[in-house]
Amino acid sequence: MNVVKLQSTYDISVEVAKIITEQINNKPDSVLGFATGSSPVETYKRIIEKYEKGEVSLKNITTFNLDEYCGLPRDNVNSYFYFMKDNLFGKTDVDFSKVNFLSGTSGEIEEECKAYRKAIEEAGGIDIQILGIGTNGHIGFNEPSDSFTDGPFKVKLTQSTIDSNKKYFEDGNMPTHALTMGIGDIMRAKKIVLIATGEAKAKAIFGTVKGEVTPMCPASVLQNHPDVTIFIDEEAGKLL
Ligand code: GLP
Repeated sequence: MNVVKLQSTYDISVEVAKIITEQINNKPDSVLGFATGSSPVETYKRIIEKYEKGEVSLKNITTFNLDEYCGLPRDNVNSYFYFMKDNLFGKTDVDFSKVNFLSGTSGEIEEECKAYRKAIEEAGGIDIQILGIGTNGHIGFNEPSDSFTDGPFKVKLTQSTIDSNKKYFEDGNMPTHALTMGIGDIMRAKKIVLIATGEAKAKAIFGTVKGEVTPMCPASVLQNHPDVTIFIDEEAGKLL
């Protein structure tokens, strides 16, 4: 596990955007796993800037997002699909026919989850998975639990996650469940880049880097992955 501490969110975004765009330029049909939340937003801005300067084209990439809220259709402003469209995909030449998302409105959850796992496999696996981290150590929406999950599944969100994310729901009606890639899906990615900034993430980052590997801090499992880089700022790294 490679931990890189940088001065600012901006500095982190420059480095992570470099990793992603180099990957795409070396392999234009790369398979990329994207994350939502505030942590990767600056990185997505740097990728858009590079796209606008003609330094990278996203038109041949295939994408898989980590998770989606149950009950929110794609055109809902709080859906993660909408988030990705607004913060990256819609501002570049991403081919939407190659954008993959778990469907939060699917009536056939089990089928939906199986199909997502199969689609990742059929695409050849994820080349780089971008991650944020929850204050409780969750990755995707893999909340602390008794065991590590494998494939995609439906999860009941913890109160801690609801408390952290409800600010985005203006009417206060945040979904209580989500569909998420499992820990196995994340661990099968060839390379993983995690971004964490701010003091609120310090405990989760300590657990991830220095804690025991336990499903009670889901991100700690990354210690067992051969190619993980964690980008943090001073505040997120203050307990290390
Ligand atoms: C949500 C997402 C995670 C994300 C986390 C942290 O729960 N499902 O993928 O990492 O939020 O979000 P933020 O980056 O806004 O702190």
